[in-house]
Amino acid sequence: MSKRKGIILAGGSGTRLYPITLAVSKQLMPIYDKPMIYYPLSTLIQAGISEIMVITTPIDMPMFRNLLGDGSRFGVKLSYAVQPKPEGLAQALIIAEDFLAGQASALILGDNLFHGAELTRDLLAAGEKIEGATIFAYQVNNPHRYGVVEFNGHDTAISIEEKPENPKSSFAVTGLYFYDEHAPTYAQSITPSERGELEITDLNKIYLGKGNLSVKRLHSGTTWLDTGTPDSMMQAAQFVQVLERRQGIRISCPEAAAFKQGWISASELKKLAAPLEKSGYGKYLLQLAAHEI
Ligand code: G1P
Repeated sequence: MSKRKGIILAGGSGTRLYPITLAVSKQLMPIYDKPMIYYPLSTLIQAGISEIMVITTPIDMPMFRNLLGDGSRFGVKLSYAVQPKPEGLAQALIIAEDFLAGQASALILGDNLFHGAELTRDLLAAGEKIEGATIFAYQVNNPHRYGVVEFNGHDTAISIEEKPENPKSSFAVTGLYFYDEHAPTYAQSITPSERGELEITDLNKIYLGKGNLSVKRLHSGTTWLDTGTPDSMMQAAQFVQVLERRQGIRISCPEAAAFKQGWISASELKKLAAPLEKSGYGKYLLQLAAHEI
């Protein structure tokens, strides 16, 4: 179990999904068989992080609490905070400053989905780094939609740009960031960008400028999807469906991840599965608890 604390940022108004998200938060939307936020939650659990703050809009917070509670169902301790306005991803570090209480953090965006056999190894390696920050790069065919990292020949990051018109590489920065304890202080020093937001890219640039940013290319067998538009949401759902149907497993299932970590027992898992028994999800948890999978 890591001392590093987790933050899931599930704020924002999801305008790219309007009218779907006019009344309901994007991160509560389903991605095939489970709410979107289950995916980043599972990723943090996989990283061994058990104290997690969920940051939402004021209006959505009660719904997230209904869904996730105090986290004990997932073997973790959850707390909640609000981001009153969508003023940027880096603001999450400022909002979470008291919660972090001088600890290192892992921030994950509530609409990012990671999956792959090599992922746990990469997460654990990033978690072990005490000083500086680790971010992950992933090759995509539409880098201009993301933060873009440029490497020199030796795998060292030399620049990061937020949504550049002319990307210097095809490596996007994913929505998962491991920071040392200085991140809230650095975030305070950022000034809002032209779109009025505290950009996470600016925070990463501070680490880069100090020679303290490690940019890890995700293994090509790892999948990274974001789910912020109708198309990407549909594609993510199809990805999950194909994999789950084919293999008879469930991916990014936080109860299963906690069970694997030994944070909940087989009998606890069985109890958790009972109310969900009518769904395939609940049946899967029961099979896991019975060591049938
Ligand atoms: C944000 C970040 C961007 C990052 C992306 C990953 O963009 O600003 O650097 O590449 O998340 O999902 P957004 O999708 O919030 O516009």
